[in-house]
Amino acid sequence: MFAYNAWYLGAWADEIKPQGLLGRVLLNQPVVFYRTEDGTALALEDRCCHRALPLSHGCVIGDQLQCGYHGLVYDRQGVCVKVPGQERVPLKAKVRSYPVVEQDEMLWIWMGEPALADPALIIRHPWHNDPGWAWIKDRYSINANYQLITDNLMDLTHVGYVHQRTIGGTPQAHSEAETQTTRSDASVNVTRWMMNSVPPPAYTAGHKFNTPTVDRWMEIDFFPPAVVRIHTGAKDVGTGAREGNREGGLAFRGLNLQTPETEKSTHYFWSGARTYSPDEPEGRNKLLTSLPPTFAEDKVVVEAQQASLDRQGGVPLVMIASDAGLVHARKLVAAMIEKEATAKESANREAPIPNAPPNAPPNAPPDAQPDAQPETQRQLHEQTS
Ligand code: FES
Ligand SMILES: [Fe+2]
Repeated sequence: MFAYNAWYLGAWADEIKPQGLLGRVLLNQPVVFYRTEDGTALALEDRCCHRALPLSHGCVIGDQLQCGYHGLVYDRQGVCVKVPGQERVPLKAKVRSYPVVEQDEMLWIWMGEPALADPALIIRHPWHNDPGWAWIKDRYSINANYQLITDNLMDLTHVGYVHQRTIGGTPQAHSEAETQTTRSDASVNVTRWMMNSVPPPAYTAGHKFNTPTVDRWMEIDFFPPAVVRIHTGAKDVGTGAREGNREGGLAFRGLNLQTPETEKSTHYFWSGARTYSPDEPEGRNKLLTSLPPTFAEDKVVVEAQQASLDRQGGVPLVMIASDAGLVHARKLVAAMIEKEATAKESANREAPIPNAPPNAPPNAPPDAQPDAQPETQRQLHEQTS
């Protein structure tokens, strides 16, 4: 079950090249991204209405998409505007189009009711366009439900165990971090402080600390249904970081976007940014180069977890204190899904009941009407003659 009325990351902006087509399954729906001549990114249903070939097998012609099988051409709204070899274009010849917003080097897509797609709801990430920050990004295909990845990010006590070789530090320091969890209607925040702790290898490689131990922070913000922003950093011990003076410390901005592909697979987009200056020592880059192996470590864990849940899904799981953040996050997603289901139910209740055909049994569905069949032989003949 997914929340559809939400912005999801569909692709990194540079994944969609001029003239290029990118087919991707999002929330179980096939989508094709492309750019018009002026560079505007668009998304259409990736399934030709004629014989269902994915449109991502076709090509871009100007602002339009041509199917690669029999040449039907679709405009930017997904309406078929040309059928080779015949003058008349069937009225039903169209595919769905999706609202898309390109911002902060990302392409956001709205998979639900288009009228509700308000761009102001998109989480901003200015560090992708700030020359004072260096950043890297990627997308991992993960064979696990998207919420298992959110769970992983909301409970960073795992860092000391899963990421010992990368961003870890001592497991005890992570488990004993002072942690505060707060929830509003629109987000969950988990803030953790590891005072006077030994910095992990990626931190010492990426920043020059003047003290052997540091005051380290992690601020995790979840925005439902699938965005987790993580701001972390560390500073020389006892120099006022916790009181708000973070000047001169190491700072990191992480963005994690868990876009469902199916119920059991996820496009996990991530980016990491750190402060940058041209005269910095070369070793500083290690903070960013430690990210791909770090997220690969998480991939192993959540995929194994999904397989384990598939094997014995009914066996109850035990909660512990560090689950607070993920429990709140799951509640917000559940509330979104429930709100959509309730709205759909009441819309169905208010919809007029179509007239039943003369010979149909009582309460027959609309499909029982002879004319409601989409492609009878007669219609096909009309459309092609
Ligand atoms: S399947 Fe697309 S034109 Fe035939
Ligand atoms: Fe992790």
